[in-house]
Amino acid sequence: MCGIVGYVGPRQASDVLLGGLARLEYRGYDSAGVAIMAEDGVRVVRRLGKLVNLSGVIESEPVPGGVGIGHTRWATHGRPSEENAHPHADCTGRIAVVHNGIIENYVELREELAATGHVLRSETDTEVVAHLVESYYTGDLAAAVTRTVARLDGSYALGVVHADHPDTVVAARKDSPLIIGLGEGENIVASDIPAVLEYTRDVLVLHDDQVATVSAGEVVVRDGSGEVVADPELMRVDWDLDAAEKGGYEDFMLKEIFEQPTAIRETLRGRMGEDGEIQLSELDMTPEQVTAIDRVFIIACGTSYHAGMVAKTLIEQWARIPVEVEVSSEFRYRDPIVDDETLVVAITQSGETADTLAGVREARERGAKVIAITNVVGSRVTRESDGVIYTHAGPEIGVAATKTFTAQIAALYVLALKLAQAKGTLSDERVESLWLELSNIPDVVEAILADLDGLKECAAEYTAACSSLFLGRGIGVPIAMEGALKLKEISYIHAEAYAAGEMKHGPIALITEEVPVVVVATQGHTYEKVVSNIQEVRARGAHIIAVATHGDDEITRHAEHVLRVPATSEVLSAIPATVPMQLLSYYIAKARGCNVDQPRNLAKSVTVE
Ligand code: M6R
Repeated sequence: MCGIVGYVGPRQASDVLLGGLARLEYRGYDSAGVAIMAEDGVRVVRRLGKLVNLSGVIESEPVPGGVGIGHTRWATHGRPSEENAHPHADCTGRIAVVHNGIIENYVELREELAATGHVLRSETDTEVVAHLVESYYTGDLAAAVTRTVARLDGSYALGVVHADHPDTVVAARKDSPLIIGLGEGENIVASDIPAVLEYTRDVLVLHDDQVATVSAGEVVVRDGSGEVVADPELMRVDWDLDAAEKGGYEDFMLKEIFEQPTAIRETLRGRMGEDGEIQLSELDMTPEQVTAIDRVFIIACGTSYHAGMVAKTLIEQWARIPVEVEVSSEFRYRDPIVDDETLVVAITQSGETADTLAGVREARERGAKVIAITNVVGSRVTRESDGVIYTHAGPEIGVAATKTFTAQIAALYVLALKLAQAKGTLSDERVESLWLELSNIPDVVEAILADLDGLKECAAEYTAACSSLFLGRGIGVPIAMEGALKLKEISYIHAEAYAAGEMKHGPIALITEEVPVVVVATQGHTYEKVVSNIQEVRARGAHIIAVATHGDDEITRHAEHVLRVPATSEVLSAIPATVPMQLLSYYIAKARGCNVDQPRNLAKSVTVE
């Protein structure tokens, strides 16, 4: 997730671009750059690190001009560096491009371009766009961009400038956001509304496959076949700036909960090959090496540890490889049994968690191959592991992990399927049907988020609770643990999670009418057992909040509140069952007046032991 700004108008473009990028820095902040149409052609300035590094250079050496594009980067391909920072130029240096999204077929496009004499200088997927535009350009920039985007698989929001068109920015999008702020004699292209609010509240929303030619006086939108779109979508924004930065949501946490369909979709993107093979080159192992794996060890902390627990079920069930999951702080001091036939998976959204990094070193010293799953390109875990699988959730600002958790689970589904394929433990038909269902999970999450009836009312009833219990069975256990963690960390209500069958061996003593019990009761092979556990606590006065499947009428007889999720197969229920619990915690915390984005005593990345 990166931030894009483009400007055409009477002001100094560099001022508008830097101001707009500052408003978008929440979207990424490992490097930044601008391309300005100067008198002598396209001038590109890029700097590694936060935007302030770029602003400093431009302040001391201004680049005058009223047209330009800018970018703040959240790396997806290629480590954070000046060479990988956007804008990227073509061979002639007359074309510059900024991009947000992921171009899935960039490897084959790079090869094709290199074979026809193009010289690519960065490690990014984006650079191919500049060279494709160069190769298709015959005098009409919008037409060249249209031909270029037709060659791209994946997602993109693009801003393109060309020295031959010093008064124009061309913008295009598919599956990545892009809007155009419509000013008086000026227009501003941006990834998000906060970047344009200083200048206008009138916004054109670019749709998938549309290409816009933006000049100071007009915006012409064309569809993929080059036809002018007569009625592009226009809107007037009435949010204030603070609300706009949060996309109109009250808090980053709520925004990030709602970003989960995109985060999961982006993480799954490009993982299924046309040959039916799961694409996971990051594993960098031959089928023989995978076959030799006799054990998987997952290390992680907090929410990431819960994702690891979900993965245990997936990998054991699908690939039939035994999996151990351990919190990193224990693993590193426990003299663990790992060797060169153990695959160690380190899960850390930040990539900077001290205990997990220490666990990675420990495992590698013992000869294990370590694969990291992280959301942050270039983070320390990526430098210390043998391979990296990225989640593509975009930056998560709220301290409580939400979209990074479900994106981690999405990545772990992919890993489990890959291991199963390599081991030959699932038939091709089974992999295909699981993949189809998995690909539908973002839509399932969208459906949950579109129907919050009852959630706020349910939360309101338990605002005054002092203690709570979360129960589940099977894959529902880590989901219950994550639900409890969310509630305790943002609302400060004590929350304990237990395997439902274990509850009668102790925690049942805690049950009173004042202790709400949240139960993961989605359909599965232990559903009846879960219902029995509900009855056990209910008999002791507990109030039940059940997360259950649409169409399950029986559950209404056993629970005071039912939070519904669409039906999925049991093993794929982990993500859907998580979402209502995130929202429940959120609304309870809000009703208690808590700061959900920055809960007390917590930090987004825990870089100390
Ligand atoms: O960056 P990591 O995934 O390694 O962080 C691990 C935990 O600190 C983290 O998951 C923490 O538990 C969450 N912020 C809780 O919401």
